[in-house]
Order: sequence, then structure tokens, then C-alpha cells
Amino acid sequence: MKIISMITACIDAGQKKNQFGIGINGKLPWSLPEEMSFFVKHSKQKSGTNPNGIPGAPTIMGRKNFEGLQKPLSERTNIVLTRDPLWQPERYEEYDNIRIVHSPWEALDIADQCPGEETMIIGGGEIYHFYAKFVRIQKLYISFIRAPQVEVDTFFPLKQFNLSENYEKIFEEIHQVNEKNKHFFTSLIYQHV
Ligand SMILES: NC(=O)c1ccc[n+]([C@@H]2O[C@H](COP(=O)([O-])OP(=O)(O)OC[C@H]3O[C@@H](n4cnc5c(N)ncnc54)[C@H](OP(=O)(O)O)[C@@H]3O)[C@@H](O)[C@H]2O)c1
Repeated sequence: MKIISMITACIDAGQKKNQFGIGINGKLPWSLPEEMSFFVKHSKQKSGTNPNGIPGAPTIMGRKNFEGLQKPLSERTNIVLTRDPLWQPERYEEYDNIRIVHSPWEALDIADQCPGEETMIIGGGEIYHFYAKFVRIQKLYISFIRAPQVEVDTFFPLKQFNLSENYEKIFEEIHQVNEKNKHFFTSLIYQHV
């Protein structure tokens, strides 16, 4: 079985608010190309296609997150959760890397058949909340973005992880504001102890 990981970028709203915003109106609340590179690098996992022909490492996402993407994530298997037995994305038949599932456990089973060493849970809010509650997340890839003024309507359940007790930090990279990245952010990787 693969290890189960989660990847997110959230607003570092400070200790007092405890509100770690991740989305607004079905989209990301920011444009941060360097943060996107962190996501792409770790979600692709350099996995390749496995002998069963499944194209790319597994990413598990909610239907709303998927619909907020411009197109399915390339070189990864897009495992999309929906409760609607009839739902299919537009131009579904043109892609070989989308799997539609109707339970979070089925999503994990499909992920285990994909190439790569990690099952990557990529949100959004409802999906993060479910898995954070019911599954042990071995690795948490998280970028904290300093953008307290940005409006959000969806949140990451950071408190659920109890990072200081249950996890050790194994990576940290600071990103200053520049022409492309309008917000200061820090990307970290935590591993369950
Ligand atoms: N900052 C980040 O790192 C990050 C990452 C990802 C997403 N986001 C943001 O998060 C927002 C989307 O999050 P969200 O909470 O609104 O939606 P979501 O978690 O992406 O998707 C929710 C949908 O997933 C399906 N679902 C949820 N639980 C299920 C279950 N137990 N069984 C089967 N299907 C299930 C349902 O689809 P149906 O309604 O079709 O049944 C539900 O409506 C967007 O703004 C997006 O940009 C941010």
C-alpha cells in the first residue's frame, strides 16, 4: 500500500484566527507560479506509467476542485470524488487519466493501483476535512501564504493534524515577493513521527 499524503497551500492567518483559507468561489484566491511548481513537482512524483497502463501518480480530489482546474492534471491520475452516479466531466472520453469514484475508500483503492509511492490528496476543503479526520496522513506538503487580506470561503483543517505533537518538519523553503509571486510564502514538508 502507498503512503497517504496531502498537499495544500493556505493563508497563514496567524495564531489568533485559526482560519487557514484555501479557496474562493471555486478557485484559488491567488496566483503564485512558484507555489504551483512546488505542487506540480510533488504531485507528479516522477512516477511514469505503470505496467497496467495507468498514466501517472494518483491525485485524489473533489468534484468541485476538479471543475476549478482548466483541464485534468497531466502526467497524473485524476481520481475525482462525486456522489452523483451520473456525473462526468466535459470531454471525458478524450482523457485516459481520469477515474470517477463515489467513495473516499474506493479512491484510495484506485490510487494503490497507480504508479508512484504516494497517494496525494489534493483537496478541496471537503475532501481535506474527510481524510484528515479518518486517515493517517503520513506526509503533509503545505505552503503558508502571507496574504491575510485575501478573501476566502473554503478552509484547510490544519488543527486536526496537531503538527507540533505528531509531525516533524523535514523541508522548509522561503519564497520572497517578486514580480511573479505577489505574496511571501513558505513551503514545508512534514512527516508523521
Ligand atoms: N489552496 C489549495 O491548496 C487548494 C487545493 C484544492 C482546492 N482548493 C480550493 O478549494 C475549493 C473547492 O473545495 P470544496 O470544499 O468547495 O469542494 P471539493 O472538496 O473540491 O469537492 C467537494 C465535492 O466532492 C464530492 N465529495 C465530497 N465528499 C465525498 C464523499 N464522501 N463521497 C463522494 N463524493 C464526495 C462531492 O461532489 P458532488 O457534489 O459532485 O457529489 C462534493 O460536492 C476551490 O475554491 C478550490 O480552488 C484549494
